[in-house]
Amino acid sequence: MPPVEAGLGEPRVLLTEEEIASTVARLAAEMSARYHDGVVLIGVLRGSVPFLADLVRAMTVPVSVDFMAITPYTPGSGRVRLLKDLDLDIAGRDAVIVEDIVDTGLSTAFLRTELRRRNPRSVAVCTLLDRRVRRVVPVEIDFAGLDVADSFVVGYGLDHEGRYRNLRLVAAADVELLAADPDAYVPVFYGSPG
Ligand code: IMP
Ligand code: MG
Repeated sequence: MPPVEAGLGEPRVLLTEEEIASTVARLAAEMSARYHDGVVLIGVLRGSVPFLADLVRAMTVPVSVDFMAITPYTPGSGRVRLLKDLDLDIAGRDAVIVEDIVDTGLSTAFLRTELRRRNPRSVAVCTLLDRRVRRVVPVEIDFAGLDVADSFVVGYGLDHEGRYRNLRLVAAADVELLAADPDAYVPVFYGSPG
């Protein structure tokens, strides 16, 4: 595996662990203030898992957790499909969709429509990252973390071909470099073996 040349295609730290922690604390406080009676947080698999885990522990109201999984939208696939549905009944309850990032908005818009059909008291959206410049469908974001303009980011749940999800930071990545070699950032982030 070729080493990543210094400066060339090297990942750039976008959010440090501290910046993530303060964003999580702010969002948890906002949601705790809104949902005195408790809330169901719905994590979108798999990118939202680290964010959701930190969020629930920072919240100070009763929280239930469930998960959904959907097929990623790709041009030509036409639409998003549900791969894993909720186990909980959210009828009459307040629910929040928890996303790692809202990009085109297609996934979030689909999930919101899908969840509204189950007659919850309310459905809100919470996302760690928001890439508004890429929006294709309008999505109302009730609890917004931070804006990103970078074309591709990894870490803290966000992956490239399943890699880099367990980084404690979020970094902007060179997509062309990763397309050529998905492991290109492994030495940078995890050190070289031995
Ligand atoms: P959307 O439907 O285009 O809004 O895409 C949302 C999903 O695409 C997110 O939940 C992520 O899983 C994935 N995604 C979008 N941008 C990125 C990125 O920069 N890095 C990793 N995953 C991303
Ligand atoms: Mg995702």
